[in-house]
Amino acid sequence: MKIEGTVALVTGANRGFGLALCRALLAAGARKVYAGARDPAAVTLPGVEAIRLDVTRGEDIAAAAKACGDVNLLINNAGISRGSSLVTEGTAEALRAELETNLFGPLAMSRAFAPLLARNGGGAIVNVLSVLSWVSIPQAATYSVSKSAAWSLTNGLRTELRGQGTQVLAVHVGFMETDMAKRVTSAKVPPDDVAAQVLAALAAGRDEVLADDLSRRVKQGLAAEPGVYLAAPK
Ligand SMILES: NC(=O)c1ccc[n+]([C@@H]2O[C@H](COP(=O)([O-])OP(=O)(O)OC[C@H]3O[C@@H](n4cnc5c(N)ncnc54)[C@H](OP(=O)(O)O)[C@@H]3O)[C@@H](O)[C@H]2O)c1
Repeated sequence: MKIEGTVALVTGANRGFGLALCRALLAAGARKVYAGARDPAAVTLPGVEAIRLDVTRGEDIAAAAKACGDVNLLINNAGISRGSSLVTEGTAEALRAELETNLFGPLAMSRAFAPLLARNGGGAIVNVLSVLSWVSIPQAATYSVSKSAAWSLTNGLRTELRGQGTQVLAVHVGFMETDMAKRVTSAKVPPDDVAAQVLAALAAGRDEVLADDLSRRVKQGLAAEPGVYLAAPK
Protein backbone atom coordinates (compact mmCIF):
# COMPACT_ATOMS: atom_id res chain seq x y z
CA MET A 1 0.00 0.00 0.00
CA LYS A 2 1.02 3.60 -0.56
CA ILE A 3 1.89 5.34 2.73
CA GLU A 4 1.66 8.83 1.30
CA GLY A 5 -1.93 10.01 1.76
CA THR A 6 -2.89 7.10 4.02
CA VAL A 7 -5.10 7.49 7.11
CA ALA A 8 -3.66 5.38 9.92
CA LEU A 9 -4.72 4.40 13.41
CA VAL A 10 -1.98 3.22 15.77
CA THR A 11 -2.88 1.62 19.13
CA GLY A 12 -0.61 2.24 22.12
CA ALA A 13 0.66 5.33 20.32
CA ASN A 14 1.69 7.48 23.28
CA ARG A 15 5.13 5.92 23.84
CA GLY A 16 7.57 3.21 22.76
CA PHE A 17 7.14 1.57 19.37
CA GLY A 18 3.70 3.10 18.79
CA LEU A 19 5.19 6.58 19.05
CA ALA A 20 7.97 5.61 16.61
CA LEU A 21 5.34 4.34 14.16
CA CYS A 22 3.42 7.63 14.36
CA ARG A 23 6.60 9.61 13.72
CA ALA A 24 7.46 7.44 10.72
CA LEU A 25 3.95 7.68 9.27
CA LEU A 26 3.95 11.48 9.49
CA ALA A 27 7.42 11.67 7.94
CA ALA A 28 6.28 9.41 5.08
CA GLY A 29 3.37 11.70 4.22
CA ALA A 30 0.39 10.02 5.90
CA ARG A 31 -2.67 12.26 5.51
CA LYS A 32 -3.89 11.62 9.06
CA VAL A 33 -2.60 9.61 12.01
CA TYR A 34 -4.98 8.71 14.82
CA ALA A 35 -2.91 8.06 17.94
CA GLY A 36 -4.85 5.64 20.15
CA ALA A 37 -4.00 5.80 23.85
CA ARG A 38 -5.59 4.80 27.15
CA ASP A 39 -4.94 8.38 28.23
CA PRO A 40 -5.19 10.76 25.25
CA ALA A 41 -3.43 13.44 27.30
CA ALA A 42 -0.31 11.25 27.15
CA VAL A 43 -0.11 11.80 23.37
CA THR A 44 2.25 14.73 22.89
CA LEU A 45 3.52 14.24 19.31
CA PRO A 46 2.53 17.24 17.15
CA GLY A 47 0.56 16.41 14.01
CA VAL A 48 -1.38 13.36 15.23
CA GLU A 49 -4.98 13.20 16.41
CA ALA A 50 -5.24 11.64 19.87
CA ILE A 51 -8.15 9.30 20.56
CA ARG A 52 -9.08 7.50 23.77
CA LEU A 53 -8.59 3.81 23.09
CA ASP A 54 -8.08 1.02 25.58
CA VAL A 55 -8.05 -2.07 23.36
CA THR A 56 -9.60 -4.18 26.13
CA ARG A 57 -12.70 -1.94 26.27
CA GLY A 58 -15.41 -2.71 23.73
CA GLU A 59 -17.00 0.72 24.16
CA ASP A 60 -13.70 2.48 23.30
CA ILE A 61 -13.29 0.31 20.20
CA ALA A 62 -16.84 0.97 19.00
CA ALA A 63 -16.39 4.71 19.55
CA ALA A 64 -13.05 4.67 17.68
CA ALA A 65 -14.58 2.84 14.71
CA LYS A 66 -17.34 5.44 14.61
CA ALA A 67 -14.98 8.42 14.91
CA CYS A 68 -12.29 7.12 12.52
CA GLY A 69 -14.29 5.95 9.52
CA ASP A 70 -11.62 7.14 7.09
CA VAL A 71 -8.90 4.73 8.30
CA ASN A 72 -7.22 2.53 5.70
CA LEU A 73 -4.30 1.37 7.85
CA LEU A 74 -4.81 -0.20 11.29
CA ILE A 75 -1.71 -0.88 13.38
CA ASN A 76 -2.34 -3.17 16.35
CA ASN A 77 0.67 -2.21 18.42
CA ALA A 78 -0.56 -1.94 22.04
CA GLY A 79 0.85 -4.74 24.15
CA ILE A 80 1.80 -5.75 27.67
CA SER A 81 4.14 -8.22 29.28
CA ARG A 82 3.62 -9.26 32.89
CA GLY A 83 7.03 -10.99 32.98
CA SER A 84 5.45 -14.21 34.16
CA SER A 85 6.66 -17.80 33.92
CA LEU A 86 4.27 -20.74 33.61
CA VAL A 87 4.49 -22.75 36.80
CA THR A 88 4.33 -20.04 39.42
CA GLU A 89 1.66 -18.31 41.42
CA GLY A 90 -0.35 -15.81 39.42
CA THR A 91 0.31 -17.42 36.04
CA ALA A 92 -3.34 -17.66 35.02
CA GLU A 93 -4.05 -14.07 36.03
CA ALA A 94 -0.99 -12.80 34.10
CA LEU A 95 -1.88 -14.84 31.03
CA ARG A 96 -5.50 -13.68 31.07
CA ALA A 97 -4.39 -10.02 31.22
CA GLU A 98 -1.88 -10.54 28.39
CA LEU A 99 -4.43 -12.37 26.24
CA GLU A 100 -6.94 -9.54 26.76
CA THR A 101 -4.48 -6.93 25.48
CA ASN A 102 -2.26 -8.89 23.06
CA LEU A 103 -4.88 -11.22 21.50
CA PHE A 104 -8.47 -10.16 22.15
CA GLY A 105 -7.54 -6.48 21.68
CA PRO A 106 -6.22 -6.92 18.13
CA LEU A 107 -9.06 -9.35 17.37
CA ALA A 108 -11.73 -6.85 18.45
CA MET A 109 -9.97 -3.97 16.66
CA SER A 110 -9.66 -6.00 13.45
CA ARG A 111 -13.30 -7.06 13.59
CA ALA A 112 -14.44 -3.47 14.14
CA PHE A 113 -12.22 -1.97 11.43
CA ALA A 114 -12.37 -4.69 8.73
CA PRO A 115 -15.61 -3.32 7.23
CA LEU A 116 -14.15 0.21 7.20
CA LEU A 117 -10.97 -1.00 5.53
CA ALA A 118 -13.08 -2.75 2.89
CA ARG A 119 -15.05 0.44 2.30
CA ASN A 120 -11.80 2.44 2.05
CA GLY A 121 -10.28 0.27 -0.66
CA GLY A 122 -8.88 -2.71 1.30
CA GLY A 123 -5.99 -1.07 3.09
CA ALA A 124 -3.90 -2.96 5.61
CA ILE A 125 -3.67 -4.31 9.14
CA VAL A 126 -0.30 -4.55 10.90
CA ASN A 127 0.00 -6.78 13.96
CA VAL A 128 3.04 -6.20 16.16
CA LEU A 129 4.23 -9.63 17.24
CA SER A 130 7.55 -10.90 18.57
CA VAL A 131 10.28 -13.49 18.24
CA LEU A 132 8.51 -14.83 21.34
CA SER A 133 5.62 -15.88 19.08
CA TRP A 134 7.91 -18.85 18.30
CA VAL A 135 10.15 -19.36 21.32
CA SER A 136 9.64 -19.01 25.04
CA ILE A 137 11.73 -17.66 27.89
CA PRO A 138 10.83 -18.18 31.56
CA GLN A 139 10.86 -14.40 32.16
CA ALA A 140 8.02 -13.93 29.67
CA ALA A 141 6.47 -17.35 29.10
CA THR A 142 2.83 -16.28 29.41
CA TYR A 143 3.59 -13.35 27.09
CA SER A 144 4.92 -15.91 24.57
CA VAL A 145 1.63 -17.80 24.75
CA SER A 146 -0.24 -14.58 23.96
CA LYS A 147 2.07 -13.65 21.07
CA SER A 148 1.86 -17.19 19.60
CA ALA A 149 -1.91 -16.86 19.66
CA ALA A 150 -1.66 -13.40 18.09
CA TRP A 151 0.54 -14.86 15.32
CA SER A 152 -2.17 -17.40 14.57
CA LEU A 153 -4.76 -14.61 14.64
CA THR A 154 -2.64 -12.70 12.11
CA ASN A 155 -2.40 -15.69 9.78
CA GLY A 156 -6.17 -16.23 10.02
CA LEU A 157 -6.98 -12.59 9.36
CA ARG A 158 -4.72 -12.60 6.30
CA THR A 159 -6.62 -15.52 4.80
CA GLU A 160 -10.03 -14.19 5.74
CA LEU A 161 -9.47 -10.61 4.57
CA ARG A 162 -7.66 -11.43 1.32
CA GLY A 163 -10.98 -11.35 -0.52
CA GLN A 164 -11.58 -7.72 0.42
CA GLY A 165 -8.05 -6.72 -0.59
CA THR A 166 -6.70 -6.09 2.92
CA GLN A 167 -2.96 -6.67 3.35
CA VAL A 168 -2.17 -8.24 6.75
CA LEU A 169 1.40 -7.75 7.92
CA ALA A 170 3.03 -9.64 10.81
CA VAL A 171 5.92 -7.85 12.51
CA HIS A 172 8.32 -10.07 14.43
CA VAL A 173 11.10 -8.49 16.44
CA GLY A 174 13.43 -9.62 19.20
CA PHE A 175 14.03 -6.72 21.55
CA MET A 176 13.50 -3.01 20.99
CA GLU A 177 14.72 -0.04 23.01
CA THR A 178 11.45 0.72 24.80
CA ASP A 179 10.12 0.58 28.36
CA MET A 180 8.94 -2.99 27.84
CA ALA A 181 12.49 -4.25 27.36
CA LYS A 182 14.22 -1.93 29.83
CA ARG A 183 15.53 -4.83 31.91
CA VAL A 184 16.74 -6.80 28.88
CA THR A 185 20.52 -6.78 28.44
CA SER A 186 20.62 -8.51 24.99
CA ALA A 187 20.96 -6.52 21.77
CA LYS A 188 18.03 -4.21 21.13
CA VAL A 189 16.99 -2.50 17.91
CA PRO A 190 15.88 1.15 17.83
CA PRO A 191 12.09 1.41 17.39
CA ASP A 192 12.58 3.98 14.59
CA ASP A 193 14.52 1.37 12.61
CA VAL A 194 11.71 -1.20 12.99
CA ALA A 195 9.07 1.41 12.10
CA ALA A 196 10.93 2.16 8.85
CA GLN A 197 10.96 -1.57 8.03
CA VAL A 198 7.21 -1.78 8.65
CA LEU A 199 6.46 1.07 6.24
CA ALA A 200 8.77 -0.42 3.60
CA ALA A 201 7.04 -3.81 3.93
CA LEU A 202 3.61 -2.20 3.61
CA ALA A 203 4.74 -0.37 0.49
CA ALA A 204 6.10 -3.63 -0.96
CA GLY A 205 2.87 -5.56 -0.21
CA ARG A 206 4.65 -8.07 2.04
CA ASP A 207 3.12 -10.42 4.65
CA GLU A 208 5.92 -10.44 7.22
CA VAL A 209 8.70 -8.33 8.69
CA LEU A 210 11.57 -10.07 10.47
CA ALA A 211 13.04 -6.95 12.00
CA ASP A 212 16.31 -8.14 13.52
CA ASP A 213 18.92 -10.91 13.38
CA LEU A 214 17.31 -12.77 16.26
CA SER A 215 13.91 -12.98 14.55
CA ARG A 216 15.49 -14.00 11.25
CA ARG A 217 17.60 -16.71 12.93
CA VAL A 218 14.74 -18.15 14.96
CA LYS A 219 12.30 -18.16 12.02
CA GLN A 220 14.85 -19.98 9.89
CA GLY A 221 15.42 -22.45 12.72
CA LEU A 222 11.75 -23.49 12.85
CA ALA A 223 12.52 -26.18 10.29
CA ALA A 224 14.68 -27.94 12.91
CA GLU A 225 13.60 -30.24 15.77
CA PRO A 226 11.84 -28.45 18.68
CA GLY A 227 14.91 -28.95 20.89
CA VAL A 228 16.77 -26.64 18.53
CA TYR A 229 14.18 -24.01 17.71
CA LEU A 230 12.66 -23.89 21.19
CA ALA A 231 16.04 -23.15 22.79
CA ALA A 232 15.78 -19.81 24.56
CA PRO A 233 16.92 -16.91 22.36
CA LYS A 234 20.38 -15.59 23.26
N1 LIG B 1 10.05 -3.78 23.39
C1 LIG B 1 10.34 -4.97 22.89
O1 LIG B 1 11.44 -5.50 23.08
C2 LIG B 1 9.33 -5.68 22.05
C3 LIG B 1 9.74 -6.80 21.33
C4 LIG B 1 8.84 -7.47 20.52
C5 LIG B 1 7.54 -7.01 20.43
N2 LIG B 1 7.15 -5.94 21.15
C6 LIG B 1 5.76 -5.49 21.02
O2 LIG B 1 5.76 -4.15 20.55
C7 LIG B 1 4.53 -3.53 20.91
C8 LIG B 1 4.82 -2.17 21.54
O3 LIG B 1 5.51 -2.38 22.77
P1 LIG B 1 6.60 -1.37 23.32
O4 LIG B 1 7.91 -2.05 23.26
O5 LIG B 1 6.45 -0.04 22.70
O6 LIG B 1 6.15 -1.37 24.85
P2 LIG B 1 5.88 -0.17 25.84
O7 LIG B 1 6.95 0.84 25.72
O8 LIG B 1 5.63 -0.84 27.16
O9 LIG B 1 4.51 0.49 25.31
C9 LIG B 1 3.32 -0.24 25.31
C10 LIG B 1 2.21 0.63 24.75
O10 LIG B 1 0.99 -0.15 24.73
C11 LIG B 1 0.01 0.60 25.43
N3 LIG B 1 -1.01 -0.27 26.03
C12 LIG B 1 -0.86 -1.24 26.94
N4 LIG B 1 -2.06 -1.79 27.23
C13 LIG B 1 -2.98 -1.14 26.47
C14 LIG B 1 -4.38 -1.24 26.31
N5 LIG B 1 -5.12 -2.13 27.01
N6 LIG B 1 -5.00 -0.42 25.42
C15 LIG B 1 -4.28 0.48 24.72
N7 LIG B 1 -2.96 0.65 24.83
C16 LIG B 1 -2.31 -0.15 25.71
C17 LIG B 1 0.77 1.40 26.47
O11 LIG B 1 -0.04 2.45 26.97
P3 LIG B 1 0.15 3.06 28.46
O12 LIG B 1 1.18 4.15 28.34
O13 LIG B 1 -1.22 3.57 28.81
O14 LIG B 1 0.59 1.95 29.36
C18 LIG B 1 1.94 1.87 25.62
O15 LIG B 1 1.55 2.93 24.79
C19 LIG B 1 3.83 -4.51 21.86
O16 LIG B 1 2.85 -5.23 21.13
C20 LIG B 1 4.95 -5.44 22.29
O17 LIG B 1 4.46 -6.70 22.68
C21 LIG B 1 8.00 -5.24 21.95
